[in-house]
Amino acid sequence: MRTVYLNGEYLPETEATVSIFDRGFLMADGVYEVTSVLDGKLIDFEGHIVRLARSLDELDMRNPISKEDLLEVHRELVRVNEIDEGLIYLQITRGSAGDRDFAFPDPETTAPTIVLFTQNKPGLADNPAAKKGAKIISIEDIRWGRRDIKTVQLLYPSMGKMMAKKAGCDDAWMVEDGFVTEGTSNNAYIVKGNKIITRQLSNDILHGITRVAVLRMAREAQMEVEERSFSIKEAQQADEAFTTSASAFVMPVVELDGVALGDGVPGKVALRLREIYIDEMRKAAV
Ligand code: PDD
Repeated sequence: MRTVYLNGEYLPETEATVSIFDRGFLMADGVYEVTSVLDGKLIDFEGHIVRLARSLDELDMRNPISKEDLLEVHRELVRVNEIDEGLIYLQITRGSAGDRDFAFPDPETTAPTIVLFTQNKPGLADNPAAKKGAKIISIEDIRWGRRDIKTVQLLYPSMGKMMAKKAGCDDAWMVEDGFVTEGTSNNAYIVKGNKIITRQLSNDILHGITRVAVLRMAREAQMEVEERSFSIKEAQQADEAFTTSASAFVMPVVELDGVALGDGVPGKVALRLREIYIDEMRKAAV
């Protein structure tokens, strides 16, 4: 049984309980982060903590825990749950004021709820899915306008994932005004020759922590990076495509709305970036 962390305590997962009035439960009033673990160490911990602070700030939510303590909790959970490869999920909600009300409760009297748990994923780095590549469908992006905040409001991304499954595919890319925003739980890229194209940062997409690292590594490897919007049609004519996320690193895309990309197998740029990313992040892991 997993040991999880809830509001300052390490508990068996079956004993960690949250109020039915918690605003995370009633109103999706909460933010989260997912940090990957390789060799029992945290990948890009700093990046996730900086984004967490930003998400909390944007929602006027108090940060209940220091960076040092958070690092300690992450490490302790990895240790007690014996995670070699996997993920750590962290969620902070506005807590429970003991009733339901649209107005935010007074932060002086209502403490945020903080939860962390591990997910054991052996084979995260040597993932067979990355050798096969992902098949993607496109769906309309009907999410709210602040996708830069990593909220737990994930119903539409879940529905998108189900639409993809129903179509015999792996995931969905969301499209708004004719341009791809991002994947259900990842950032989206296309490759044309030596150039990597990915949507520019704005409130329309999550500012991926993996995105920052992969774009830096691409530039260091003398690839050209263009941050701009692209359509599904342009993507279907690209040489390659891929996605990035903390949970899947760099994932090649081999099919988009039934059209095979390039040779219909994972592209060499995507595979190279995956290798560089995993290698470098392993070395920098804490
Ligand atoms: N998802 N875009 C969306 C909508 C996401 O949910 C995610 C991450 C990303 C990639 O961000 P990062 O590189 O920081 O993981 C982009 C996480 C992994 C999840 O929900 O499980």
